Amino acid sequence: MTDTPSSETRDTDRTRRRYDRAARYYDALYWPAERLLIRRLRRDLWTRVVAGKILEIGAGTGENFEHHPAGAEVTGVDLSPRMLARAQRRVALSKARLEIREADVQNLPFSDDCFDTAVATFVFCSVPDPARGLRELARVIRPGGRILLLEHVRIDLPIFGMMMDFADPLAVRISGAHMNRRTGRLVQSVMSNVVEERRGPLGMIRLIEIGVE
Ligand SMILES: C[S@@+](CC[C@H](N)C(=O)[O-])C[C@H]1O[C@@H](n2cnc3c(N)ncnc32)[C@H](O)[C@@H]1O
Repeated sequence: MTDTPSSETRDTDRTRRRYDRAARYYDALYWPAERLLIRRLRRDLWTRVVAGKILEIGAGTGENFEHHPAGAEVTGVDLSPRMLARAQRRVALSKARLEIREADVQNLPFSDDCFDTAVATFVFCSVPDPARGLRELARVIRPGGRILLLEHVRIDLPIFGMMMDFADPLAVRISGAHMNRRTGRLVQSVMSNVVEERRGPLGMIRLIEIGVE
């Protein structure tokens, strides 16, 4: 009898395929938002990161690489080999010692407490089981370390929220990302020691800082 993949494995494979498909046009799709808003938020996030051993989750096409602190040792991981192939072209922009490799945040191939800081920007909108991914991050970050997330979330205003729910299936097809996740709330429910700041129009983007205990 052959093993049937679990629904979690199927969802993860589907996410990988979506980003593999999107890799070709990903940078062009996000270019306007990147220039108008996101780049500034990235810069702000990375000013909070001190050098040391850093894990960058969902490195994507490498948009964060130019912000890596000099002297740091960064491991950048992503589920999608094609996104990583794009990221490879930006490796030289990093001022850190940077290694990139394929890995799933829900099942990280690292031992406990082996990084000082984890960073993920616009990743948990796509992870099939985000609570599991967050617990994995807490496992690999040493006590006293930090997790920094930049995430877009569902706008909690009736009309906007409903519009996001309506458009979500299409957004997932095109970009691989859910537009209506309540990642801020999820983080609060899974972890303690969380500071969250609202950013962007209507608080749609959240900068979330978690102190690992
Ligand atoms: C919206 S893109 C963001 C990319 C990049 N962080 C940025 O800010 O431009 C989301 C990325 O997360 C990756 N991803 C999704 N699920 C993942 C998982 N379970 N483990 C690791 N990476 C994942 C996707 O392959 C994709 O490259």
